[in-house]
Amino acid sequence: MASVEMRNIVKKYGDGFPAVNDVSLDIADGEFMILVGPSGCGKSTLLRMVVGLEDITSGDMIIGGQRVNDKAPRDRNLSMVFQNYALYPHLTVYENIAFPLRLKKADGDEIRRRVTEAADVLELHEHLERKPANLSGGQRQRVAMGRAIVRAADAFLFDEPLSNLDAKLRGQMRTEIARLQRRLGITTIYVTHDQTEAMTLGDRVCVLRKGLIQQVASPRELYEQPVNLFVAGFIGSPPMNFLPAKAHGGKLETPFGTIVLDQRRADAVGERDLVLVGIRPEYFEDASLVDEATRDVGTVFRATVDVTEWLGDSQYAYLPFDAPPEVAAQLRDLSRELDSDQLRTQAVVSIDAASRLREGQEAQFWLDSRKVHVFDPASGDNLTRDAEAGAELTRMAGEDRAAQVEQARAGALG
Ligand SMILES: Nc1ncnc2c1ncn2[C@@H]1O[C@H](COP(=O)(O)OP(=O)(O)OP(=O)(O)O)[C@@H](O)[C@H]1O
Ligand SMILES: [Mg+2]
Repeated sequence: MASVEMRNIVKKYGDGFPAVNDVSLDIADGEFMILVGPSGCGKSTLLRMVVGLEDITSGDMIIGGQRVNDKAPRDRNLSMVFQNYALYPHLTVYENIAFPLRLKKADGDEIRRRVTEAADVLELHEHLERKPANLSGGQRQRVAMGRAIVRAADAFLFDEPLSNLDAKLRGQMRTEIARLQRRLGITTIYVTHDQTEAMTLGDRVCVLRKGLIQQVASPRELYEQPVNLFVAGFIGSPPMNFLPAKAHGGKLETPFGTIVLDQRRADAVGERDLVLVGIRPEYFEDASLVDEATRDVGTVFRATVDVTEWLGDSQYAYLPFDAPPEVAAQLRDLSRELDSDQLRTQAVVSIDAASRLREGQEAQFWLDSRKVHVFDPASGDNLTRDAEAGAELTRMAGEDRAAQVEQARAGALG
């Protein structure tokens, strides 16, 4: 097991296009790191440079304290679990798992011991004599992980391992990978373009855009304290709503009324003709369901409901708003880049299932002014980000994580 450090990693392909552009990232021993971002942002390229399947144009790749830029993949002691698992169809599950040990000419007793141990962890005992073709997708994936386990690899690397599975199996496998990784405490780098996978699996998540790191943080910090519009729009489903506004005297004039900022955020925003105000769907409510005290910390406004979607435990309401053409265009572009169709000149708000609002009618809503972020539309920067609060969220997640790894390793030794 080992840490992975990337120092100013650049990858330019033949045509000079920088697929990965000056990426520096430290992954702690035992940590579960997610690389996430839209198609083409450089996730696979970065992972392939860790494994050694792709040359590094410049920068240093350091694994377990050693620079590995010039080491062949087979000398890096990493285990990559591919999307198609690459199992040998003619070999049994047992022999598939034993394969790396046979290559190393390990003796029979050792092979038996290590395969049995891996099968224990992976709950594959009853399948050891079967062939891969007779297994489910999830079982095959476990066999592939078994092979990685017996090799005592320093790190596991996954490139979108679940993208071929249907939604239900994807959910199951996600839970399984998380459980195994916690149990084994093996450093893991996991590539996905799915923000739900990123949020549920990772200790920390590295958000990439066009070969550049946007933010590296715990899922909670990404959600609560995003650095910019891109991260704010990418993390969360439905995404954060962005409203155009004028910032003046500590107040935001939005299409949904005036939002009063607290002193810290008022100072950070200052006076601006145009900002984008970000509010997540769950920070809205049907105003008739909000008590007096809560009303006072928010903004009450009237809006016409376009569409409602009832989900059982809550419901979504779509509230169109007016926006200058340049804002509408910016939201459209961001939406396209994030491969989402929901960032538009309408807010998606999540309200109590008990609300009686109706499509096509006007209703009174409330939004929580304390939860508002303010973005600079030109740079995309989050002007109101509370860096200290964010760092605290990631630090707490890191401590929980370190305790878990220690426990897992003590268990594995005992
Ligand atoms: N062999 C190659 N030659 C030239 N350019 C490449 C090559 N492989 C990837 N690229 C370019 O590098 C960029 C990053 O590609 P990469 O495969 O790392 O993206 P990704 O984030 O994994 O995307 P996806 O989610 O679609 O798998 C893309 O713009 C791509 O066109
Ligand atoms: Mg890829």
